[in-house]
Amino acid sequence: MTAHPADSPTPPGHDLELAHPTVTDGPVLHELAAAAGGLDVNTRYAYLIWARDFARTTVIARRGGEPVGAITGYRRPDADDTLFVWQVAVDPSARRRGVAAAMLAWLAGRHVEGGGRWVEATVTPSNEASRRLFTRFADDASAPVAWSALFGADELGDGHEPEELVRIGPLR
Ligand SMILES: CC(C)(COP(=O)(O)OP(=O)(O)OC[C@H]1O[C@@H](n2cnc3c(N)ncnc32)[C@H](O)[C@@H]1OP(=O)(O)O)[C@@H](O)C(=O)NCCC(=O)NCCS
Repeated sequence: MTAHPADSPTPPGHDLELAHPTVTDGPVLHELAAAAGGLDVNTRYAYLIWARDFARTTVIARRGGEPVGAITGYRRPDADDTLFVWQVAVDPSARRRGVAAAMLAWLAGRHVEGGGRWVEATVTPSNEASRRLFTRFADDASAPVAWSALFGADELGDGHEPEELVRIGPLR
């Protein structure tokens, strides 16, 4: 997997600045999640905490200084070789131009540099874009991908679709 030096901009081919957030980026994470649609939007407080405590497993993409996307993630406390991708949000005006793919490759690259081997996320059955994002990432990394049920609609409540777990790895 391609390595990117600390806080460097851009995988090749993208006019994006990719960086870990600072705590002042909490509101940016919140706004991107709200604007994306289809995500369970948490409180601004939650995103401030995320920007403070999970910055090394979170990325914000900017184009010309303007935020266009973010991935929030964490290393699983009981399996720290696994990066769990919690939310992926790309502004509707910036979609289908590789922003999510670039963020995921960048974040996963750093995870692998730090000794990580696995990426996990959950995807709802109807989210074709998200499903494609993770499948394509696994293909590009030449890594196996496994899908399994994780949370059912009854557990999630509020008419939420079930969430399937996608587990990708081992990454090299
Ligand atoms: C899912 C999401 C993050 C994708 O962001 P994006 O920057 O548009 O995605 P990319 O341009 O990097 O595309 C990644 C792959 O998904 C595919 N894709 C993107 N949007 C798609 C769509 N609406 N339908 C089908 N495939 C789609 C792309 O073609 C690409 O696959 P490819 O390389 O094989 O062509 C974005 O649509 C979004 O923010 N959605 C709302 C929030 C959400 O559902 N997040 C994911 C769950 S946490």
